[in-house]
Amino acid sequence: MRVLGIETSCDETGVAIYEGDADSGRLLAHALHSQVDTHAAYGGVVPELASRDHVRRVVPLTRRVLDDAGLRLSDLDGVAYTRGPGLAGALLVGAGFATALACALDKPALGVHHLEGHLLSPLLATPKPTFPFVALLVSGGHSQLFEVSGVGRYRLLGDTLDDAAGEAFDKTAKLLGLPYPGGPALAALAEQGRAGAVELPRPLRDSGDLAMSFSGLKTAVMTLARRGPLDEARRADIARGFQDAVVDVLAAKALHALREARMTRLVVAGGVGANRALRERLTNDLARIGGELYFPDLAFCTDNGAMIALVGALRLAHDAAPKADAFGVAPRWDLASLAAP
Ligand code: KG4
Ligand code: ZN
Repeated sequence: MRVLGIETSCDETGVAIYEGDADSGRLLAHALHSQVDTHAAYGGVVPELASRDHVRRVVPLTRRVLDDAGLRLSDLDGVAYTRGPGLAGALLVGAGFATALACALDKPALGVHHLEGHLLSPLLATPKPTFPFVALLVSGGHSQLFEVSGVGRYRLLGDTLDDAAGEAFDKTAKLLGLPYPGGPALAALAEQGRAGAVELPRPLRDSGDLAMSFSGLKTAVMTLARRGPLDEARRADIARGFQDAVVDVLAAKALHALREARMTRLVVAGGVGANRALRERLTNDLARIGGELYFPDLAFCTDNGAMIALVGALRLAHDAAPKADAFGVAPRWDLASLAAP
C-alpha cells in the first residue's frame, strides 16, 4: 500500500506519502505548511482563514511530496484524509480534495480519525513500539490514556474532566501575555524559571483513578497573575510552576495506567508530547520501572500528514477497499467508537 495522507483539521496543512505496513512500512515524503503567522494577529485560529489557506496549500504540497518521493499520481494505491475531529470547513478542504483525487485515480479514499493518527504516530519513529501499549494522548483538544492492543483496538482508560493539557498550556500562556501559539512559548519561558519558586496544586494526582483535570491550574495562575507585579523573572517562575504541575500529574497518571493495564510499554503522542520537561520526566520514570518509552519525532508530535498517511496505509491494507463516494467529515468523532480494520 502506497498512500497519500492529507491533514487539514486545524491550522496546519500536512501532506505525506507512506508505503507498507506497521512492521516494514516507511515514510517516503512529507510536507507541512503551518498557518501560525496567519492566525498570530488574532491570538487564535480563525476557522474561515484556516479553510482558505488549506485551499491554497493542498495542491502545491501534494505536488511537492510526489516530487520528493519520485512518484506520479498513478503510483498511489489510495488517498487518506483527516475526516475529524476538527474545524468543519478546514476538514472539508482535505476531504473534498482527497475524495476528488481518489475518484479521478479510481483508487480508494479513506477518512481517518485525527486522534488515531496521533495515537499511532510513534510507529513513524525508529525504533517503533510493538502492540500492545498504553498511550498518553496529550494535544490541544485531548488528554486521554488508552490501552492500545492493535490498529483500531483502543480502550479508553482515563480522560480529563475539563481542559485538555495543551489547552491549559495555551490558556495559561495567554494569561501570562505570551504570543500565540501559547504552548511552546510557555514551555520556553518555563525553562528560564526556578524549580519550586512557585508551587501550584497537582489536581487529581492522588485521586486513585485515571481522571485528570487542568482547568483549576489555569485559575491558580490567574490569581497569581492578578496579584502582580509580573516582571519577566516572575512570569518565568510561574510558567515553571505550571509546567512542573502538569508534567507531574501526566507522569503520575501514565504510570498508574501502565499498572492498571499490567504493561510497561508507554507511547506518548500529541502536541504536548513535544514538551521537553515531560519527555525528561517520563524517560526517568520509565527507566526506574524498567519500562519502554516511545515518542514520535518532534516534527510528528504536532499535526502532520505523515500520521494520516500511516493510518491510511495500515487500514487500507485490511479494509475491504472503501470507495471514493463515502464523502464526509466528522467535526466531532469519538475515537473509542472506531472498529479494528
Ligand atoms: O496535536 P496538536 O498539534 O493539535 C491538536 O490536535 O490539538 O497539539 C497542539 C497542542 C497545543 O495546545 C500546543 O500548545 C501544545 O500542543 N504544544 C505544547 C508544546 N508544543 C505544542 N505544549 C507544551 N509544550 C510544548 N513544547
Ligand atoms: Zn492534532
